[in-house]
Amino acid sequence: MSALESNTRGAWNSKLGFILAAAGSAVGLGNIWRFPTEVASNGGAAFLIIYLLCCFLVGFPVMMAELSIGRRTRKNPVGAFRALSDNKLYPLIGMWGVLCGVMILSFYLVVAGWTVSYIFEELFFFMGMPEWSTYIADTGNGVINAVFAVLFMGATISIVVGGVSEGIERATKLLMPLLILILVGMIIYSLTQPGSGVGLSEYLNPDFSQITPGLVFAAMGQAFFSLSLGMGALITYGSYLDRKENIPEAAAYVTFADVGIAFLAGLLIMPAMYMAQAKGVPIFDESGNLIAGVALIFQVLPELFHSMGGMLGLFFGVMFFALLSMAALTSTISLLEVPVSYAIDEHKITRKKASFVVGGSILIISLIISFNTSLIGTIDLIFSQVGLPLGGILICLFLGYVWKTENALEEMDSGYPGIGNSLLAKVWRFLIMIFCPLVILYNLLSTLFFD
Ligand code: PFF
Repeated sequence: MSALESNTRGAWNSKLGFILAAAGSAVGLGNIWRFPTEVASNGGAAFLIIYLLCCFLVGFPVMMAELSIGRRTRKNPVGAFRALSDNKLYPLIGMWGVLCGVMILSFYLVVAGWTVSYIFEELFFFMGMPEWSTYIADTGNGVINAVFAVLFMGATISIVVGGVSEGIERATKLLMPLLILILVGMIIYSLTQPGSGVGLSEYLNPDFSQITPGLVFAAMGQAFFSLSLGMGALITYGSYLDRKENIPEAAAYVTFADVGIAFLAGLLIMPAMYMAQAKGVPIFDESGNLIAGVALIFQVLPELFHSMGGMLGLFFGVMFFALLSMAALTSTISLLEVPVSYAIDEHKITRKKASFVVGGSILIISLIISFNTSLIGTIDLIFSQVGLPLGGILICLFLGYVWKTENALEEMDSGYPGIGNSLLAKVWRFLIMIFCPLVILYNLLSTLFFD
């Protein structure tokens, strides 16, 4: 790969820039919205433990696989599979990834739009305009949903148009540290408040009787979604990575950053729920279950902020939703980059045109979802809960039996000399060729057909 070639296609400026961009892709609504919700509705720490196992034993090896495929081929997911074999069927794995990316982004934008509308909800509330606050907070209002989805897509396109280093890398370098700062500040505050101890023990005391095939399925889907795996986002980000970078090390940083932030989000949200209860906010539904899903973040937490009152409530309310919006933005960027890189490479159009055409088309689906938010659950089930682990199996099988692990290890050798003879390589080979495909397949089949 000549310098000129890699420059025209785009490349990361620095190792830190790449790690922050990949961690920015991983850290998103999945960590701060979906993870605490899954924890709350799946028995607290039992879910956390299974989730961690999924991330480290399945997610981490698949991330190394995606990064090495991307860096070897320097192509989008479809082009990457085409470059590594003559069989016409394999690029379909990349196609499936692009489709999952398009569909996930279409609903993700709507939820990301809510995070922005709730910044206004908090502002209006504390400015003494409760009717405006209630109006803008109505997630059932299609027009409001559509307006914020358009805004969010506009922000995403404006960064992706800027390209890899000037757009994506620059934005994530600023947003990620800010996000960690706000999160830690809020945790410190919430842990000093009455009621938070109960939430903390719910979060950290496992109840192993809760572990069922359904829980493992949820944890596996969550791991793939949260680590941005199974659809070629990391093949794409890996395609801009310099050959001197150490792939296992980069994958480890990204996995730890993602899992760490999910853990922190749980540390904020589980105690916050019980704090809310201590202030009189209901946190259980009619059947006695902890409120989860959309209601957890967009109902319980705003009530908590309101009950804090004054400048403190305003500060935390606005900060929290700003944090969520920033986390979502660094993820929508990567979700859009996958089909955009596909359009640039395979259809030979400019980045600018690709960003607008692809982003605009996805926005049309988002507008339909804005008016029919009940579609979110179904799309999420098909394209993230099932689609991403399915993509993961196909990537493992392709790498293990078609491209071959030796070739991937040779690709990794440039940044990690001698990796081929290391213990890591032996364990990784076993995980990719046998463990991951079998565990994911068993998990999908047992839940979808026998549970
Ligand atoms: N990882 C993101 C999150 O946790 O919110 C979502 C995501 C981004 C999934 C990019 C897949 C992807 F390719």
